[in-house]
Amino acid sequence: MNNLILATNNTHKISEISAILSGLDLEILSANNFPDFPEVEETGSTLEENAILKVQAVWKKYHLPAVADDTGLEVDYLRGAPGVYSARFAGTGCTYDDNNRKLLSLLEGARDRERSARFRTVIAFVDMKGEIQQVNGALEGEIADKPRGKNGFGYDPVFVVEGTWKTLAEFPTEEKNKISHRGRALAKIRPIIETALISSR
Ligand code: IMP
Repeated sequence: MNNLILATNNTHKISEISAILSGLDLEILSANNFPDFPEVEETGSTLEENAILKVQAVWKKYHLPAVADDTGLEVDYLRGAPGVYSARFAGTGCTYDDNNRKLLSLLEGARDRERSARFRTVIAFVDMKGEIQQVNGALEGEIADKPRGKNGFGYDPVFVVEGTWKTLAEFPTEEKNKISHRGRALAKIRPIIETALISSR
């Protein structure tokens, strides 16, 4: 069985990614399995660069296949912000609630159709030979006027999914995974990983 390292310690992401990759001949490991896992500063100016930085760091240290994702919320009224700064939008060490409060306050006064936004996920995969491939996935929607729902994490409670009245935090996890930006990107990376596994035999 091959090892695949998920370059994250975020338990939401680990369970979401593991579920989508289930059934492949893989033992899935994550940052939590390695006490000395490389800390990567997300210094890239794009999601693409950051996802690559993360898989490159894993490859350099362990020479094992790895997957990393980088996700950003792009709000049109804020010209694409918070984007690559989504994790630390309200400052270093901020919580998800801090970020959501800041976002809602910046959008005060913005009318419905000015609140359009999307989640965008980029996934990078480095194979056994060190070659990197990337895919992406997006979910369109708009920013709610207040948080709703208890599921998910991050900006889920303030993101209303296009074509519905529900925030992502009001979707059961399984349903979120089917329609989400990350789910869509993972569905594209799965066959790429499968092909890499077959050609390494
Ligand atoms: P990351 O760099 O991919 O971990 O994502 C940056 C930030 O985007 C996270 O800290 C979360 O605030 C937010 N984020 C990432 N994925 C999601 C999601 O699926 N739903 C809501 N927020 C997310």
